[in-house]
Amino acid sequence: MAVLPIVQLGHPVLRAPARQVSAESLASPRMQRFIDDLIETMHHAHGAGLAAPQVGHGVSIAAVHIRDNPRYPYKPNVPLTVFVNPVLTPLGDDTAMVYEGCLSVPNLRGRVRRFMHVRVQAVDRNGAPLDFEAHGLTAGTFQHEFDHLEGKVFVDRVEDPATFCTWDNFDAYHREAFIAEAEAIVSKYGG
Ligand code: NI
Repeated sequence: MAVLPIVQLGHPVLRAPARQVSAESLASPRMQRFIDDLIETMHHAHGAGLAAPQVGHGVSIAAVHIRDNPRYPYKPNVPLTVFVNPVLTPLGDDTAMVYEGCLSVPNLRGRVRRFMHVRVQAVDRNGAPLDFEAHGLTAGTFQHEFDHLEGKVFVDRVEDPATFCTWDNFDAYHREAFIAEAEAIVSKYGG
């Protein structure tokens, strides 16, 4: 396995819709190695998730894994989930404003609106069907990674640019209030 370089905002691969992955291509040793590297890179960078375009490969594959993440201590744990060719459908109208950041956007956070209930349909790395619902902050994490596969970045969804902040200033001025909001989301939506 290898830690891959993470491309940064401005790289065109982050702005192109990712290509669908055929069953044959997904099963190839080369693509399976790539998925191992994507996971390794996500873990190495302490990301909550990572999408293939973020390591320069424009294919519709992303991973989410949250395990007591020091970058996001308020996020509930999510088991390692690799999802390929996903379709994401909002369930209901509930939304909440959350702070997001991105490994492809260094040292910047901002508030975006996310659906609180989504359905994710995809296949896993072995081509087996995946069909699950995600809720609350976890739903937001899946929407963030799904956006990457559509060529979108969280900055596109920041409704009020005045909420952009560095990590240091998030910690100094916004973390405490956001943790209270995040805890309310977790207790209301369970994710
Ligand atoms: Ni991201």
